[in-house]
Amino acid sequence: MSFGAWLDSLLYYCLLWSVASARAPTMVYFNAYATVDENTFYIQGGTDVTNSSITYNQFFSLDLTRSWNTSNPPWSEVITAAGGRMPARLKASFHSMSLSKDKKTLTFWDLYNTPPYGSNFHLDTNKWEDLSALPAQIPDRLKVLKAATDATTDRVYIPGGAPGNEMLAYDPFSKAFSVIAVPPGGTPLSWSTYTFAWNEVRRSFLYFGGYEMPGPSYFYEYAPAAAIPWTALTSSGSVPPQLSNSCMVSAYDGAKMIVFGGTVIGKIYGSLYILDVPTMTWSLGPSSQPRMAMSCSVSGDNFIVWGGVSWNESAKTVLLPATPVIYNMYSAQWKTNFISKQDTAPRLVPTTPPSSTGSGESGGGGTETGVVIGGTVTGPSGVENPVTAAPKSNNAAIIGGSASAGIVIVSIAVMVGVVVIRRRRNSRRRVSLPMEFWNI
Ligand SMILES: *[C@@H]1O[C@H](CO)[C@@H](O)[C@H](O)[C@H]1NC(C)=O
Ligand SMILES: *[C@@H]1O[C@H](CO)[C@@H](O)[C@H](O)[C@H]1NC(C)=O
Ligand SMILES: *[C@@H]1O[C@H](CO)[C@@H](O)[C@H](O)[C@H]1NC(C)=O
Repeated sequence: MSFGAWLDSLLYYCLLWSVASARAPTMVYFNAYATVDENTFYIQGGTDVTNSSITYNQFFSLDLTRSWNTSNPPWSEVITAAGGRMPARLKASFHSMSLSKDKKTLTFWDLYNTPPYGSNFHLDTNKWEDLSALPAQIPDRLKVLKAATDATTDRVYIPGGAPGNEMLAYDPFSKAFSVIAVPPGGTPLSWSTYTFAWNEVRRSFLYFGGYEMPGPSYFYEYAPAAAIPWTALTSSGSVPPQLSNSCMVSAYDGAKMIVFGGTVIGKIYGSLYILDVPTMTWSLGPSSQPRMAMSCSVSGDNFIVWGGVSWNESAKTVLLPATPVIYNMYSAQWKTNFISKQDTAPRLVPTTPPSSTGSGESGGGGTETGVVIGGTVTGPSGVENPVTAAPKSNNAAIIGGSASAGIVIVSIAVMVGVVVIRRRRNSRRRVSLPMEFWNI
């Protein structure tokens, strides 16, 4: 290489570095996200928080290998290899990202837009590779779905991703798709806005929430190799309500699962639920600002939240801080600094974090656990507790608290009807739903 060429490439990489280090992603909701080895948090796409008709193809990574504070998070833009391009279809929202077993490939899944689409991004080469065509979907079904990888077989599972709304499975070796039945007693009507994640302790997937239940429960285990793969899970403690648009991520190698944020019929939450997996007991941590459709990650003691949207009591969008929000699971507090695993002090009992029932400073300045949209206002002291009641009676309590049950159910039916009609009308176009819809 000549000195000139060397200088050119040096300048090129300096430029790339300065561009990358200077930029942070635009605040969005309903973007795709995944974390690789608790070292790198990836976010891609999403809908603009101030204008729901703007969708981005942004693709960023956040470095979790070193410590930082939330005023200066180390984002960098993921750059596609020379000669390649990010697929045009990834200017998208309502899609999701799965990670291969060898942790070298992120796979993007868009079953919301027509036709459904999948693409691999190889982290070792920074190259894109489209998947073969996904099974065609029935267009008037709302599909805000989450893909997750079986860490033993590398197969990817997407509840509601099959055309008839059963679960879709993808085998990366044969590149074949298959259809998996819904839980016994379930109807393949509409699984959407749930969360779904692999748990390393149980060696199975956990399915949580969503605005329509796939069966009698909203908390399931799916164990692909088991004789009876679906089980409605029994858990105790501060059992979360049936949240939609929340996130669920694994911590401490699957010893804990964290469920954060989301909505329940007309209310938006910033509640943090931590499931102790060996005992299947939930505890409720201190709340952060209510938000939904955000991205979540875990590295060491840190639970990281970025993006999403929120509303105030008059159903007006509340702008959330553009910086990540960090909950330290060990100190059980919302913090303004991320402490990398390398910088975490050694522990006498390193594998047992405390149960997170303590109080702490609130992330992002908010303290309310729940906010009613367009209904009765419940402040921090008057919050209807969504947690302690049994799921069924809890739903009833929330319904009863804001309006009569009949009116709420009818208005939900109308909203779902409107969306179905909209999707029928727009099934050929790539649509963005008004954010009011997500508030059910
Ligand atoms: C939202 O974005 C669309 C598309 O760019 C634009 O046409 C519209 O004017 C924007 N709306 C507002 C309120 O800014
Ligand atoms: C966060 O980092 C910035 C830049 O490195 C620094 O200026 C600021 O003082 C730090 N804030 C805290 C609270 O540590
Ligand atoms: C909600 O936000 C809007 C717009 O910022 C504001 O006008 C309104 O007063 C807020 N409502 C409440 C109850 O805070």
